[in-house]
Amino acid sequence: MKITWKISESDEIAADVENGTNLMEAAILNQVPNIVGECGGNLSCATCHIYITEEWREAVGEPSPFEDDMLDIAEDERLESSRLSCQIIASDELDGLVVNLP
Ligand code: FES
Repeated sequence: MKITWKISESDEIAADVENGTNLMEAAILNQVPNIVGECGGNLSCATCHIYITEEWREAVGEPSPFEDDMLDIAEDERLESSRLSCQIIASDELDGLVVNLP
């Protein structure tokens, strides 16, 4: 699937990600700034925080209750569109996904 990380109005990184990869790992592989993934995807650090763009929110879905709790400790502002990217798995359904970085 293809994913685009929007870094700012004028800067973005786009990459093809193998299905089954979580989007924190994909961000690290593609040197996306501000995605640290400190806990390795174990849902215990919230350093993989991203914002899902409006048009993709339904396809990506809502966080689990535990992820929801973890989002409360994320360093950057929590928004309605906040997700932890280690909990989102690349798939054909998400092909073309665009996300914003905190
Ligand atoms: S990498 Fe730690 S919560 Fe996602």
